[in-house]
Amino acid sequence: MSFLHNKNIVLGITGGIAAYKSLSLVRRLKDQGANVRVVMTDAAQEFIRPLSFQALSGNAVHLSLLDAEAEAAMGHIELARWADLIVIAPATANSMARLANGQADDLLTTLCLASKAPLAIAPAMNQAMWSNSVTQQNRQTLVDRGAVILGPASGEQACGDVGEGRMLEADEIVEQIEPLFNLQALSGVRVLVTAGPTREAIDPVRYISNHSSGKMGYAIAQAALEAGASVELVSGPCALVANDRISRTDVESAKEMQQVVLQHIEQVDIFIAVAAVADYRPKQVSGQKIKKQADKMNIELIKNPDILASVAGLQHRPFCVGFAAETEKLEQHARLKLEAKQLDMIVANRVDQSDGGFNSDYNSATVIWAGGQHVFEKTSKSRLATDLVRLIAEHYTI
Ligand code: PMT
Repeated sequence: MSFLHNKNIVLGITGGIAAYKSLSLVRRLKDQGANVRVVMTDAAQEFIRPLSFQALSGNAVHLSLLDAEAEAAMGHIELARWADLIVIAPATANSMARLANGQADDLLTTLCLASKAPLAIAPAMNQAMWSNSVTQQNRQTLVDRGAVILGPASGEQACGDVGEGRMLEADEIVEQIEPLFNLQALSGVRVLVTAGPTREAIDPVRYISNHSSGKMGYAIAQAALEAGASVELVSGPCALVANDRISRTDVESAKEMQQVVLQHIEQVDIFIAVAAVADYRPKQVSGQKIKKQADKMNIELIKNPDILASVAGLQHRPFCVGFAAETEKLEQHARLKLEAKQLDMIVANRVDQSDGGFNSDYNSATVIWAGGQHVFEKTSKSRLATDLVRLIAEHYTI
């Protein structure tokens, strides 16, 4: 279920050509279960008819401060209180300037001034207007007051210019505003995430590893942060950059990863093991580069410690979530790991498909716990991470 479910969203539409995109935005917000009320400025009505928004939102569109009939139905102060979030999309340079100045000379600006709801603004304007220092000052003023700026995107513009200033697409706006409702799900909770592969040395220049890119683990760490948690990330070698509010320790091997995890574990409420930890390592690590000599060479491998099982086996253990990377019998194998390692939850994902699992930007997952399971269809790893963190937060009990 989306965080937007049952949320009251006032969608403000100002006078820009991108107003047509806001029709899809209303539809996407409704798809997520949000209640949407649209407010249009006079200029917006030059681009698109209010009736279209009325049909899609299922509510009369709010057009004027001075409309006694509309005010009687739901006055602007009532609307300001009703809103859980105000989204202005498209927001013109002029509307940003008026908001930054605290003007209240039409319904939308009055509403913004009167409401305690968070404000999200999706700018849409010519690239020169966007890069103008006055607009940038207004943007900064709005950010300093707590507004969230969504985009803008870069590309070809309606006027023929190319550059930054295009309004984000409806899906991107929905993806960026949903976490605004996710802020408290893990507030005050301490989360430790492992991510990426491990490297098991053969000699000073060679190692055994796997295809993990770290994308899934870093997305989980970011989603936990956005859910209000303080996040510790223990990362195998990868090229990703973590949010600077995430405390990150880099490791190479499974043994190093286990050592760092166990150092932190007593201060942790939830442990999410996303790392693809090598199950085995070479028994002997040569101190020198091994020379090419015989036609055949055998490397004896010994078992690595199971980090997740060692944490789940602690007397005072955190809530333990494992991942299961499977190429067949997804559910069956994941259930066995859930039970064998005594986990609270396991996230099973297929790793035999090119558009999911290792090193992809996308993934799907079946989450299994003692009392049930939930399937997440294929989506971006960041979106999946948000959904997984929400599910984990629901099941986490102190
Ligand atoms: O990094 P990406 O490219 O984004 O790819 C994401 C992923 C496919 C690596 C990720 O989604 C995933 O499936 N991670 C778990 C990989 C794995 O090692 O699965 P497993 O089924 O072998 O292990 C089960 C669980 O035990 C995992 O939580 C793992 O972290 C943990 N484990 C495994 C072995 C070991 N020695 N110690 C462990 O803690």
